[in-house]
Formats: sequence, structure tokens, C-alpha cells
Amino acid sequence: MKLLLIAGNWKSNKTISESEDWIQKFNAKCQMLNAKWENKTVVLCAPFTLLNILKESIEAEKLPLGLGAQDVSPFGDGAYTGEISARMLKGLADWVIIGHSERRKYFMENDEVLAQKVAKAKEAGLKVIYCVPDDKMSVPRSVDVVAYEPVWAIGTGKSDSPENANSVISSIKKQSGIHIVIYGGSVTAENVFSFVSQDAIDGVLPGGASLDPVMFARLITAAISG
Ligand code: PGA
Repeated sequence: MKLLLIAGNWKSNKTISESEDWIQKFNAKCQMLNAKWENKTVVLCAPFTLLNILKESIEAEKLPLGLGAQDVSPFGDGAYTGEISARMLKGLADWVIIGHSERRKYFMENDEVLAQKVAKAKEAGLKVIYCVPDDKMSVPRSVDVVAYEPVWAIGTGKSDSPENANSVISSIKKQSGIHIVIYGGSVTAENVFSFVSQDAIDGVLPGGASLDPVMFARLITAAISG
């Protein structure tokens, strides 16, 4: 069976009480949809401030959700005020997004610092989802998953065509040697199946569509069953 990874990216959104509300509603919706995605991987990439509470709620409700962070420090533990090291994350999250275009754009993260982040995350045993805007960008060898996210498609409601995403993703796989590559950029419950039914696309990275629990549950169901 084809692999399927769905990684929701909450970006810089949600307070503790909003995240608790999300879990309650998501849980209720999953039970209603009777969704069976045990053999698929669904990950929620949340702000650092929510990882602890989400971990507790996911365990308490026995939800089939993994947890990820959206960034990690390029340094280890120590005198780096404000930073969250990979070792601090481990235990709270299994996954981490590195190199999202918003980090590259607003926080000036370049290939060198991203390579350091990947190295630290791997050292701590985290699984890395590494974002690239096209098939020209270099990808560190040790990442687990690449996310192809054309910048113009992020948060615009204009997704790439499934055929073009499939061809860019095939090219990324060939060039990087990474076997799992997913698509991100305006993925919705309505268009998700057109992406995941392509040969080379192993999953999706929805941002906006992961913020609403009902919409996210619908997106997962649509990805699995079409
Ligand atoms: P979007 O975001 O689904 O809201 O376009 C995707 C992303 O930036 O990861």
C-alpha cells in the first residue's frame, strides 16, 4: 500500500485553550467519521508552547496523531537565549519541520544554518521534514521527508497542479535521494486526493486547512478514501 503522510502545520496560531478545544472537536469528528487511518501517518506540527498540552491530550484521548515542532535551534543546549534545542524537543515531539519558506523569508535562514538545524535534530533522534520551494534547492542527505512547497501556493488558495507537483517531486526524489516527498501549498479537503493519488506524492503539508479540526478531519478522510 502507498505511503501517506499528512503533516498539519499550525504555524504561529492558537493559545492553550484553543488547542484544547481543537482536540475535543477533532476527536468528536473522528469518531463520527469513523475514520480509520491507523496505517497512515498524521502529524500535527504545533507551536512549542502547545506541544506539552497536546501530547497529554493526544495520549488521554488515544488519538492517532503524531506531534511535530515547526523549527529547532541550530545550537545545542546552553547560552542561546530564546532558543529551543533539539534535545529539549525530544520527548515532546517526534518530528520537526526545518526550512519552511516563512523561516527562510522572515528569519533569514539560509542553507548553512538549516544544515546545522538538521544535524542537531538528527542527533537528537527527531524526524525531519525539510521544506523546499522547487527542485533546484539543495537538500541535506539525512532528512527523512522533503516537502515541496512552491512559495506562491502557500496560503494563497492557489495550489500547484497535481501533475506539476508530481513531476517536481519526482525530480526532487531523483536529485536528493530522499524517498518520501510530500506537497504543501493551499491543500484542502477538496483537492487533497488529487495530490495523494499521484504516483510520486507521498502526502501533504496543509497549513490553513489544519487549523479547523472539522476541516482537518475531513481532509484526512478525503486523502485516504478519495
Ligand atoms: P497553506 O500552508 O496550506 O496554508 O497554504 C502550507 C504551509 O505553508 O505549510
